[in-house]
Amino acid sequence: MEILALSASPRIGANSDLLLEGAIESAREAGASVRKFRVSDLNIKPCRGCLRCNVLGRCAIKGDDWAEFSKQFMDADAVLIAAPVYFWYVPGTLKVLIDRFRSLIVVTMGAEHITCTPRQWRPKNFGFILTQGEPTGDDFAPALDMLRTFAEKMSLGGHVVGEVVAKGPAMKSQVAMNPAQLAELFSKVGLPTNAEFVDSQYERYQGYYAAARALGRNLASG
Ligand SMILES: Cc1cc2nc3c(=O)[nH]c(=O)nc-3n(C[C@H](O)[C@H](O)[C@H](O)COP(=O)(O)O)c2cc1C
Repeated sequence: MEILALSASPRIGANSDLLLEGAIESAREAGASVRKFRVSDLNIKPCRGCLRCNVLGRCAIKGDDWAEFSKQFMDADAVLIAAPVYFWYVPGTLKVLIDRFRSLIVVTMGAEHITCTPRQWRPKNFGFILTQGEPTGDDFAPALDMLRTFAEKMSLGGHVVGEVVAKGPAMKSQVAMNPAQLAELFSKVGLPTNAEFVDSQYERYQGYYAAARALGRNLASG
């Protein structure tokens, strides 16, 4: 079981990346091999919309990491994507990467609908981890919608194994803080610092870790 893990936050100590690490650790414990990429480490040029991929059977853009990354994607049995919510969506860098997948699908025009068929790769399961600063609302929804559709088009019969949405951790590494660290952070940003509130947030974040670990395990077991 080869899992490709993609971390889409640009910052070090990202909450989404920390939860992704939890998922990766449990996937490895369950026997999977995991290869992780940080989107911000990849050199990926934006799709030009030239549609030459229709003729070439590959992307026409050269001189970036797409060819190597897409090979890793095609060879993987499962894909795990972790991203922060930016303006109710995924960060632009991840969307730039996703647009390049156009070169991996055959698009057939129809009067009523366009049909998208992946060129050739093994079926894959998907898992998603999203983090948002908003503590209760559903800012993540448009991003998750897009990722689900991406998986539906790219999975070739695989499915979405699990989704973890962490609401509330806005500051760097917040999801990994212990109650004392949370109390200190909350005092700086104007949130309540009483033990009841702090402990409730701590428990909530630990729940996100547990969910991420379960997602890693489930992906590893196919
Ligand atoms: C450019 C930008 C846009 C953001 N937009 C939203 C948003 O629409 N909704 C929200 O709840 N949080 C938003 N946030 C907060 C992040 O989602 C939040 O800090 C998240 O934990 C970041 O994840 P990370 O730690 O993995 O980078 C935004 C943050 C940035 C930097």
